[in-house]
Amino acid sequence: MANASFNISPEKCPRHVAIIMDGNGRWALSRGLPRLAGHKAGTENLRRIIRASVEFGVKYLTIYAFSTENWGRPSEEVQGLMFILEDVIDRELTELHKEGVQLRHIGRLERLAPSLQKKVLNAIDLTKKNDRLVLNVAFNYGGRDEIVNAIQHIIKDGVRPEDVTDELVNRYLYTAGVPDPDLIIRTSGELRVSNFLIWQAAYSEWYVTPTYWPDFNREEYRLALETFASRDRRYGKVSSSEYEASNA
Ligand code: IPE
Ligand code: IPE
Ligand code: MG
Repeated sequence: MANASFNISPEKCPRHVAIIMDGNGRWALSRGLPRLAGHKAGTENLRRIIRASVEFGVKYLTIYAFSTENWGRPSEEVQGLMFILEDVIDRELTELHKEGVQLRHIGRLERLAPSLQKKVLNAIDLTKKNDRLVLNVAFNYGGRDEIVNAIQHIIKDGVRPEDVTDELVNRYLYTAGVPDPDLIIRTSGELRVSNFLIWQAAYSEWYVTPTYWPDFNREEYRLALETFASRDRRYGKVSSSEYEASNA
């Protein structure tokens, strides 16, 4: 049921929220803990934000969990992040399935350990008919890699140049079938895209907060959605109220 304290009308609620879950390392550092402790705390927080998304009526949630550039981190950290993904699937899948969450993966699975790939594919298969919330997990994801992959497949399929349209490109992206993100949230204050959804974000609204990801709670999420609801999305045109006023 919609929560009483959440007073955004359904038509003002973003259908698709994407999150750059950043700041786990600094969260840990500020507490004198190892970086992996920050990633664990970040994962705990993710569980809360998934629940809140269902409660708020968000239909698609995309989370940036591991970028194509994150392979460049120290190997213990990379291994730790792989382990966390595996552990989350092991511990949370049954509950997520019960809650009606459909899991999808965006990015490349190839570089992951075969046993982890299998777990991801199994989770996707198990939840494929769920429709309360679509959770896209961007893992080994890069926006440029996604576009390169799309171009390769478009060429392989022998598509004629004149048939290449926005809509066709969309169908070749990892996010095929998913609407563009309405709102992108980035925690920890960095003002950059970091290779996330660079095609799909053409007209997304942004919400950037200095809060580190493990501390980004339901209240701040609600605030992000309320801020979004008050925005005037113009898509390069003039706002509808201005247009009406000038034609009155
Ligand atoms: C985000 O937190 C999680 C991943 C990139 C996997 P970071 O690990 O980037 O945390 P900071 O930015 O170093 O604080
Ligand atoms: C983006 O954060 C990637 C994820 C959140 C998974 P990074 O911490 O890797 O990005 P940069 O290095 O600050 O741009
Ligand atoms: Mg970071």
